Amino acid sequence: MATDTGNPIPRFPAGFLWGVSTSAHQIEGGVNEREPSVWDAFTAEPGRVKDGSTAAVACDHVHRHHEDVALLAGLGVNAYRFSISWPRVRSEKGLDFYDRLVDDLCAAGVRPVPTLFHWDLPADLDWLERDTAERFAEYVARVADRLGDRVTKWITLNEPAEHTLLGHALGVHAPGKQLLFDALPAAHHQLLAHGLAVRALRASGASDIGVANSHGPVWAASTEAPDVEAADFYDLLLNRLFADPLLLGRYPDGIGELMPGDVEADLKVIAEPLDWYGINYYAPTRVGAPQGAEIEFGGITMPAELPFSVREIEGHPVTDFGWPVAPGGLTEVLTTFRDRYGDRLPPVIITENGCSYPGVDDQDRIAYLDGHVRALHRAVEAGVDVRGYFVWSLLDNFEWAEGYARRFGLVHVDFDTLERTPKASYDWYRELLRSQRPTA
Ligand code: NOJ
Repeated sequence: MATDTGNPIPRFPAGFLWGVSTSAHQIEGGVNEREPSVWDAFTAEPGRVKDGSTAAVACDHVHRHHEDVALLAGLGVNAYRFSISWPRVRSEKGLDFYDRLVDDLCAAGVRPVPTLFHWDLPADLDWLERDTAERFAEYVARVADRLGDRVTKWITLNEPAEHTLLGHALGVHAPGKQLLFDALPAAHHQLLAHGLAVRALRASGASDIGVANSHGPVWAASTEAPDVEAADFYDLLLNRLFADPLLLGRYPDGIGELMPGDVEADLKVIAEPLDWYGINYYAPTRVGAPQGAEIEFGGITMPAELPFSVREIEGHPVTDFGWPVAPGGLTEVLTTFRDRYGDRLPPVIITENGCSYPGVDDQDRIAYLDGHVRALHRAVEAGVDVRGYFVWSLLDNFEWAEGYARRFGLVHVDFDTLERTPKASYDWYRELLRSQRPTA
């Protein structure tokens, strides 16, 4: 095994949250029991999803949630991050489903940590419209009213940067718009939705609210000025476009002018103080000057007119998705955030970290997770206030435009029979959690 087994993983601070994450559209299925989302329409278009699949059944979690909660209990996590499907809770029956799920989790001693938006926007809504932000806050208030007696920790949005870039700028995710920089209003409206949702949650009595954003170090392809400038710009898009308004109440220079509406007034809502900040970390990105042609990277076609180009990272192993395995990037992103935002950065939780590999004896995943948990501990030792770590994902699931080909789960899912089989990494994580439990 490629783990550092001779050397036990150091102990994390008391009260640390150890969890796993999933999202509604990727695991639930039960598509006919809810209203449609933008992802249903997108996957129905030929050629959008690589293996031609849809999430109509996915892991059939809506009908197998007891089994999945038992898997969580067996794993010994103290928290579970899942998402609430906005189109599903438009009906009372849909809201009942989450009510029961939350009851089951509480009975199993697993703290529910719901994300209120993980990309499955109701099909009749559009993030280019400001009104969607208001609708979001109404939906959030309704969910908080029903679940807030048992749910105490909330996440507003998941990865608005990816939802904007992949869904609205490049069109490789739903809703499939290719607006390049004209996609920026979708970013602003998600941020506004976040701020309005924080207010709605606080009004309902909630006091432990965060957001989950994708972040990672951006490494310049060389020390030449065009590469460094391109890398800085990419860093702005990935690491500052959302974090600056959330944590500092302002957009990076040159961005605010491109946003719609009364931006100054909106920023006051967007910067409502957060109780914690969630970071999804997978890999660093190497970025250089544009190459004047379309490039294919990580399964995505990037148009020639972008002011940067994403390059291969050499010298690191890659997952079966082609993503580099660079645990040091997790320490780096955390210390960079601490240095950049200082005391404006609330405590941090790693809301996603994981990798795609095939097989049930998944030693590569164990090596990846082992390396990243140690890298996280180095950030704690360096003084970053980290309060939790969630593995993506509990189950193999519908990996968006990649369909079912990419397997991120600690539990294998046979998508013909829907049988769940815990992998070697499930046992490894269970043992880690056991070793981290307080020895009273
Ligand atoms: C981040 C997204 O939040 C999640 O939905 C996705 O499956 C993982 N990254 C892996 O790509």
